Amino acid sequence: MSTSLKPSPLRIGIIGAGVMGTKHAEFIDRERNATLVGVADPFSTTLADTVGVPNYSDYHDLLAAPDIDAVIIANPNGEHVPTALAAIDAGIPALLEKPVAISANEASVLSTAVDEAGGVVLVGHHRRHHPAVAAAREMIRGGELGRIVAVNGMWLTKKSDQYFEQPWRRTSGAGVMLINLVHDLDLVRYLIGEVTTVQAIASNAARGYEVEDTAAVIVGFDNGAVGTFIVSDTVVAPWGWDQSTQDDPQFPFSPDASSYSIAGTEGSLTFPQLGHYYHDGESNWNLPLSRRFRAIASGDSYTGQLRHFIDVARGTAAPIVTVDDAAATLNVIESAHRSAETGALVAVEPVQPSPR
Ligand SMILES: NC(=O)c1ccc[n+]([C@@H]2O[C@H](COP(=O)([O-])OP(=O)(O)OC[C@H]3O[C@@H](n4cnc5c(N)ncnc54)[C@H](O)[C@@H]3O)[C@@H](O)[C@H]2O)c1
Repeated sequence: MSTSLKPSPLRIGIIGAGVMGTKHAEFIDRERNATLVGVADPFSTTLADTVGVPNYSDYHDLLAAPDIDAVIIANPNGEHVPTALAAIDAGIPALLEKPVAISANEASVLSTAVDEAGGVVLVGHHRRHHPAVAAAREMIRGGELGRIVAVNGMWLTKKSDQYFEQPWRRTSGAGVMLINLVHDLDLVRYLIGEVTTVQAIASNAARGYEVEDTAAVIVGFDNGAVGTFIVSDTVVAPWGWDQSTQDDPQFPFSPDASSYSIAGTEGSLTFPQLGHYYHDGESNWNLPLSRRFRAIASGDSYTGQLRHFIDVARGTAAPIVTVDDAAATLNVIESAHRSAETGALVAVEPVQPSPR
């Protein structure tokens, strides 16, 4: 008789126990194949004390602990690359929160380390793990919308003033483009194609911080499609991933507000509702449109991301969002910043993956 042994839960440490680190701890708590065994945060022991695990003030000590299988890195953006490099040095697989780095140069240092040391890093663009994303990608790739021609995206909400009490969120290395638009751009790259050109206007007029609170961004894709995005962390509005997906119960749900509209030669799609508009038979603007809604499986993207990370850490799956992939999204953000400063249309540098 053969016996099948179930693997024991993946023993995870969290580096950076702020808002996102605490959320990751909740996702781990709900997942039977993972367990939280330690936290590293130099400024707060609250999460470790609450869960009843050790807190290390230096993450190197967490990485050297004997019972750690993997880490989730959720410290401030400027700490991401040094922390991920230390995880690679220690041979510990990492789920690294977005943005992968705060500059393309930094991302390229990390990419080289992944290649040369065989590091295992999954970047936390969690939206890719949402069931509506999988369904939209399948429809787009299956040709149901014809050739994709245009996409419009919105991420508009009002963050609390308290959110900005953390100085890192007000200064270079943060801002609504690097913190929030980065998710939207990752998603449209995943759904539609590589972004090759960008033009942007950014404004800090409403909040008056060093970083922008609002931006309008136009992108061109390698396949000829075009896109427009408006993003702001300072407006009262229902349009954006967080309000429309129920991905995180912290954000009140706006069921009828779409965050993206995707338009193709044979039909269009609202997202995340997956309202599919099309013509029955001949297609032209004088004919009435039909609409049907695509049913999707239930599930939240953070749980999907954690389950994928468990597989990645165990070596049974390759990361769905690699460092190079996230670096390509970062290049779009950097190009948007450059465009906002100069007023010029900016060509996005492609990421050249290092040879293995
Ligand atoms: N995927 C998402 O949807 C999502 C959402 C929010 C934030 N984030 C990302 O998560 C990261 C953290 O954001 P946040 O909002 O939780 O910030 P936060 O300021 O609430 O938390 C950061 C934590 O890191 C700690 N810290 C600072 N330096 C450290 C170091 N050297 N080692 C270990 N810990 C350190 C701080 O004490 C703090 O507790 C950011 O990179 C952010 O972009 C991702």
